[in-house]
Amino acid sequence: MFAHIPPYAGDPILSLNEDFQKDPRADKINLSIGIYFDDEGRIPVMAAVREAEQRVAQQTGPKPYLPMEGLAAFRTEVQKLLFGADHAALAEGRVATIQSVGSSGGLKVGADFIKQWFPDAAIWVSDPTWDNHKAVFEGAGLTVNTYPYYDAATGGLRFDAMLAALRELPARSVVLLHACCHNPTGVDLTPAQWEALIPVLRERELLAFLDLAYQGFGDGMDQDAFAVRALASAGLAFFVANSFSKSMSVYGERCGALSVVCPSKAEAALVLGQLKFTVRRNYSNPPMHGGQIVATLLGSPELRSAWALELDAMRERIQAMRKQLHAIVSAKVPGRDFGYFLTQRGMFSYTGLTPQQVDRLREEFGVYILRSGRMCVAGLNSHNVERTAQAMAAVLAD
Ligand code: LMR
Repeated sequence: MFAHIPPYAGDPILSLNEDFQKDPRADKINLSIGIYFDDEGRIPVMAAVREAEQRVAQQTGPKPYLPMEGLAAFRTEVQKLLFGADHAALAEGRVATIQSVGSSGGLKVGADFIKQWFPDAAIWVSDPTWDNHKAVFEGAGLTVNTYPYYDAATGGLRFDAMLAALRELPARSVVLLHACCHNPTGVDLTPAQWEALIPVLRERELLAFLDLAYQGFGDGMDQDAFAVRALASAGLAFFVANSFSKSMSVYGERCGALSVVCPSKAEAALVLGQLKFTVRRNYSNPPMHGGQIVATLLGSPELRSAWALELDAMRERIQAMRKQLHAIVSAKVPGRDFGYFLTQRGMFSYTGLTPQQVDRLREEFGVYILRSGRMCVAGLNSHNVERTAQAMAAVLAD
């Protein structure tokens, strides 16, 4: 019955992370998956999140199904976090938001929605992008193309080439953009570049789909929402999928949202209705526990401030690791520019290592990074940064 089914080749990120768990070497170093680890190599339980969870646990009431669109308090808090509490798009009721199963769930619901209501639209993603983007959008039946993004020669952005490519797209094409902390390169658009992109999106009638999975890890919660707020202020219609997996360190709670910014309140109501139907057909309604934690935390000014400070410290620790790695590798490999470790933002850096060098890192030194050369700098700590730098220097020496 099932013999015709081919074996699953595995996922480039999740399977590598599984391989890491099975590796018996005590000194192995996990820089593969996009997870924030603290200086002791542990996934932190943030104090504000723990307190919010305890408050949730004290509510011993029944556990009904959530509505298809998710918990109302969660959705309201998400909107305030993304757009800022006073944004005109919220006051005008132009934003349709649903709670989703992580931001991956938001991408999937958005992809299904696009396939149904824009059946001729193809999607363009950055070259490169998160491996799962292609899988999610192709899985929904959309054609996935790429636009120029990363400049391997400089470790920066090919912004002119990107704009030129977007100017050629058919109207109502969907353009996936990383709102901050680009995954996998760590190369972001500056505010001025976002401002330059907006007229292109408008003139070409393109539908932006922002992925905001790392809010708070670039420059700060508000700064990292720049693109969301700027597009909404410009009056564009667009999608944004966001996540609390990283910013609240609640990976397994699968807490995210999908928001669609619409031209009017009436259209937002239509969109929300069809998003609900899409959810109903996929998984009926989202889980309750994670949404309650997030809503409780964000709804309490005291917990929210405490959380913001904890997140600041996480971001600053990553930046300190970037500086340390840069200093050590630069000293060990003179004549090569590792400035990208300092300029790239968020959890990831694109190292430029070849797949063969990546394999050597893993096999000889127990250092796990993706075969694309993506390194999760949030997995570095004061105990492993020197060994990582040494291993990098060794594979670069040949
Ligand atoms: C990553 O890019 O490593 C994370 O977003 C985890 C994942 O699901 O791929």
